[in-house]
Amino acid sequence: MIYPKIIAHRCGGALTPENTLAGLRLAARLGCRGVEFDAMLAADGVPVLIHDETLDRTTSGRGRVADMDSASLAGVDAGGRHHPAFAVEPLPTLDGALHLCAELGLWANVEIKPSAGQEVETGRIVARHVAAASGAWLLSSFSMSALSAAAEEAQQLPRALLVGAIPEDWRQQMAETGAFALHSSARALTAEALRAVRDAGVPLACYTVNRRSDGERLLAEGVRAIFTDRPDLWLPGEM
Ligand code: G3P
Ligand code: MG
Repeated sequence: MIYPKIIAHRCGGALTPENTLAGLRLAARLGCRGVEFDAMLAADGVPVLIHDETLDRTTSGRGRVADMDSASLAGVDAGGRHHPAFAVEPLPTLDGALHLCAELGLWANVEIKPSAGQEVETGRIVARHVAAASGAWLLSSFSMSALSAAAEEAQQLPRALLVGAIPEDWRQQMAETGAFALHSSARALTAEALRAVRDAGVPLACYTVNRRSDGERLLAEGVRAIFTDRPDLWLPGEM
């Protein structure tokens, strides 16, 4: 699978409200080829785009995402907290986001972001929705159970294992989840771990890299892609 080098983190990065369709539209306008976003289940099992388990930080709503059904979430503003200019911006469903990515020609890394205790169900349902949408997709998760459930549901979808620092047993964790790539924290990346992963021919993508000089260095060292909140620091032809 060919990774875009620069991946807009949480849809569009820092310039737009995170995990929104506005973010996807800006990413495409900036010339991004790839985006990343977080998918979690509403109470009725509909996957929606949000990072936190609660609505409070990024939306006009309050409380746990897992306690609200998708009809209630549809009435929440996911834009105004970022900046009043973005009010009122819908909290997207995963299906809506995948549809827009396909329309804009964006490759997407769908991060499976389960609420606590919903790892298996979220992995299974997100994979089912992604498999049903036409486009270029990659699944990832910090949760090994979610990734394994996604693999059972849709074996054909490529999967990456998300980690903070690269653990000692990364080979075993990748084998258990059937992941072909690793996504790790740039800050926690050591030269030793980078060398081991690179020498094994395993694609490595790092988050979250918001200085262009850091991104250039990592890419020169063999990191395949970076997740960034600042895709605007790169020109369309570079991404
Ligand atoms: O998928 C890379 C990155 O998004 C992981 O961290 O917390 O921003 O979802 P987070
Ligand atoms: Mg994420």
